[in-house]
Amino acid sequence: MPFHSDTHPDTEVEALIHREFERQTTGLQLIASENFTSPAVMRATGSVLTNKYSEGYPGKRYYGGNAVVDDIESIAIERVKALFGAEHANVQPHSGANANMCVYQALLSPGDTVLGLSLDHGGHLTHGSPVNTSGILYHFVSYGVGGEERIDLDAMRDLALEHRPKMIVAGTTSYPRRLDPEPFRAVADEVGAMLMFDIAHLAGLVAGGAHPNPVPYSDVVTFTTHKTLRGPRGGCILSTAEHAKAIDKAVFPGWQGGPLENAIAGKAIAFYEASQPSFGEYAHQIVANASALAAALAGEGFRLVSGGTDNHLMVVDLRPFDEELTGKVAQSSLDEAGITLNKNTVPDDPRSPFVTSGVRIGTPSVTTQGMTETEMPVVAALIARALRGRDEPETLALVRKEVADLCARFPAYPDGA
Ligand SMILES: Cc1ncc(COP(=O)(O)O)c(C=O)c1O
Repeated sequence: MPFHSDTHPDTEVEALIHREFERQTTGLQLIASENFTSPAVMRATGSVLTNKYSEGYPGKRYYGGNAVVDDIESIAIERVKALFGAEHANVQPHSGANANMCVYQALLSPGDTVLGLSLDHGGHLTHGSPVNTSGILYHFVSYGVGGEERIDLDAMRDLALEHRPKMIVAGTTSYPRRLDPEPFRAVADEVGAMLMFDIAHLAGLVAGGAHPNPVPYSDVVTFTTHKTLRGPRGGCILSTAEHAKAIDKAVFPGWQGGPLENAIAGKAIAFYEASQPSFGEYAHQIVANASALAAALAGEGFRLVSGGTDNHLMVVDLRPFDEELTGKVAQSSLDEAGITLNKNTVPDDPRSPFVTSGVRIGTPSVTTQGMTETEMPVVAALIARALRGRDEPETLALVRKEVADLCARFPAYPDGA
């Protein structure tokens, strides 16, 4: 009998996992950076691969017993290169933040100047926020959104000409509009900078052909595998062959120790799934759903930052709906109604990031469940009713029941997870 046999199972955590399954599958999951990964990906992440140490890279490991793992990691690398048309891939980053820090370590020296989108205009912490290591180690200069709440490319170019950055970082966390790579490449070329595109949010849309692919224009592309791409939690780096060695060295031994080969197997499966024709349909449906939801929310009296969305997410300014309603209160009221989303600042928000005047809403999860444009007005109406009745427990309970009924019609895991 092995020592870990189930003679004294931990029922406490088992029960909590069960509760989380119920929460995810009976409520509306509208967090733009989340998704329901496939049962095949979940099997891989919970497999015996979690037992294996494999510091190094396929064919060059520090420990024995890596023949199978080498095959898995090599498959993941080849699949993701083919999916995005990249010359080099590193599938080991444990997360998107790690992927970004590894790229900076590979291609920059501390103190180097970098241009990145500011956090409060839709960028990510790792794009130079002063509270993040990126902003502590490197001299980030922030660009932002301008008229019509779109990224101000002219101002970005002016900053690049003034500061002569070594690298320009493009990529967004809460920006609802299409991000064309050409203008970034043009400015990078003009000032002799490298271009890093962080498509953490957009990777699935790019893979499915619903958003432009920045790989041909970029020196490096980073992304997370768990958002629109619908794989396991993790990060990935694509680069030109020129930067391959430096990137690999920065990931291991630079930033990380042993790679999570269970996650890498999950990534390999997700890359396979994303290469299927149905994934293209999925990616386009995410965008169609976001568009329909944004229009329906506008009809309920909300203001959409930038007037709408081109991708999988929208940032909703709550003030025209209810001047008193903060993002913080909206998030917790909707939680009670079984609707999960996150508070989010709107551009030039007078409220703090802990309070905010807006929320961010995304459609990757509900689209995985099979919802279409037909259900989006229903979702918008449920959100509006819960927020109007946020002080009435009976209204929130009623909305919660209708949310559960809607989700029961679109089970994320019909055969269980
Ligand atoms: C643009 C962008 N980059 C990086 C990250 C970091 O990813 P992770 O949370 O896996 O570290 C995120 C996550 O939200 C993101 O939106």
